[in-house]
Amino acid sequence: MIPESFIQDLLARVDIVEVIGRHLRLKKGGANYLACCPFHNEKSPSFTVSPSKQFYHCFGCGAHGSAIGFVMEYVGLNFPDAVEDLARFVGLSVPRDQNPEAAARHERSLALGDLMGRAARFYREQLKTSAKAVGYLKSRGLTGEIAKRYGLGYAPDDWSPLRAEFPDYANSPQLAECGLVIDNDGGRRWDRFRDRIMFPILDGRGQVIGFGGRVLGAGEPKYLNSPETPLFEKGRELYGLFQARQAIREAECVIVTEGYMDVIALAQHGVTHAVAALGTATTPMHVQKLLRATERVVFCFDGDSAGRKAAWRALEASLEQVEDGNRLSFLFLPPEHDPDSYVRAHGAEAFSQAAAGATPLSGYLLQELKERHGTATAEARAALVGAAGELLKRLRAPLLRMQMVHQLAQITGLAAQEIEAGCQLPALAAPTREAPRRAPRRKPSSTERKLLGIVLCHPTWAARLPPDLPPGDSEEWQALAAIANLVDHGELPTGGLGALVEALRDTPHQAVVAALGGELLLDSADEADMEQEFNDTLEHLRGRLVAREIERYISISRERRLDGEEQREFSRLLAEKQKMARPKPSH
Ligand code: UTP
Ligand code: MN
Repeated sequence: MIPESFIQDLLARVDIVEVIGRHLRLKKGGANYLACCPFHNEKSPSFTVSPSKQFYHCFGCGAHGSAIGFVMEYVGLNFPDAVEDLARFVGLSVPRDQNPEAAARHERSLALGDLMGRAARFYREQLKTSAKAVGYLKSRGLTGEIAKRYGLGYAPDDWSPLRAEFPDYANSPQLAECGLVIDNDGGRRWDRFRDRIMFPILDGRGQVIGFGGRVLGAGEPKYLNSPETPLFEKGRELYGLFQARQAIREAECVIVTEGYMDVIALAQHGVTHAVAALGTATTPMHVQKLLRATERVVFCFDGDSAGRKAAWRALEASLEQVEDGNRLSFLFLPPEHDPDSYVRAHGAEAFSQAAAGATPLSGYLLQELKERHGTATAEARAALVGAAGELLKRLRAPLLRMQMVHQLAQITGLAAQEIEAGCQLPALAAPTREAPRRAPRRKPSSTERKLLGIVLCHPTWAARLPPDLPPGDSEEWQALAAIANLVDHGELPTGGLGALVEALRDTPHQAVVAALGGELLLDSADEADMEQEFNDTLEHLRGRLVAREIERYISISRERRLDGEEQREFSRLLAEKQKMARPKPSH
């Protein structure tokens, strides 16, 4: 739990232009800054960042948000991590006093992260001075540029090279905790990584959380990896994801390989949207991360039998993660190749073409089961259906499952319903058509919407909303009420629209405020006009209220006589209506 007041302090300190400028090249355009939107493909910039509102909005795809929202979307962080990232950027530390245990854990991982970063820097420096290590990388076709992009390093051939970097080498418990050194029973300590090419493993923020170390040439084990530590959990991390994010977005696709060198060799040839599972089988967590980055995933494992096994495990890990609309596929290279050797032998173009023609998950699943069980006899087909049923039970994408049941029906000569019943496939919720996540939302401009728009430019004006205005049930009204409530409690944030949107995070009002606020970034209405429009709108609403009340009294009077009190109110309303109807002096 991060206190709301801290979020507001933070947003008052960060400048969204600087935050986004870390990632995108922004060009000044009028009062705003512009860039090509990183969230969809476009040629001319419609991604708009407002320094005064501390808000971004894409007029092409409708993406929008505060500085925190941007970091979450762009870097792929959750809310606390995004807050952490921004806080570090402006030199604040996030208060976490509510939970001392979590605070301690957090402190500890910051300290470990710091050590890992220093070690990575040390290894990088060592690479520069080792002809042997540089020679090895060159022999594998890598340039200095790629070595730099992936932060490659070298752990010197000695018992404890890290002693040079860490003065407290002998007695730092953290060095052992983050897996950089090994302590033996006799109390002696030495480096885990010696005489190896070092591949730093980064988390979503670009923080070093682990290493892989490869022997130069032959030797066992070929790769040595960091152990699991408080920072590093193998089943969660994907090697190269941090470097690949932008490329994945541009390619709208991610390629998943088995090895460090596959990722790096592909990048060397310009295929920069590749990542690797870290020497472990693909986990559902991996797939979830991949699908958060993009909808298209191509698994490309080695052409050998181990690679085929890995592909099947990736398929199993994917079943519960796939949604309709995702496209997962499997590229099987010739047996003698891995992606590294393939791209070096045939080039990037051939690789990309092969990836584009990869076998979709559905086809791979059925093909593999046909090969395993055969289709020649009733027994074979029964086994095939049984095995397929077990997998389809786990599939959560209703439309895809239907398609596959139909294909299975064709293969086995059964009817689709017979398969569903025979395999006891759970009923699936009727597929609902979900609105695209960021569809631009343009409603006809209602009075409420106009009023909310003005209040978003001048949130303090919410205090001027008369309390007796007819409370509408539109989401605009609800949002106006929520903002007025913030004003009443003295909790209205001062950090612009971005801060207001964050103050409304996890409330039903956030969406309408963010969407409408974003659309307003281009409007540069005259202040005096806006004041006038605000007053006019209030008056219009007042008029609506008066008219409605008059209607009500008229319908009551058809049933019975109005009592004295009602009569007085009715007359007052009529007078007010008349006054309103009088033409106003023009301005
Ligand atoms: P590979 O043997 O396919 O590695 O193992 P590679 O990336 O192609 O390596 P090069 O081309 O021989 O240098 C795939 C992955 O399995 C893990 C590593 O993550 C490796 O990248 N692995 C492999 C280990 O962790 N330890 C090993 O001893 C071997
Ligand atoms: Mn290889």
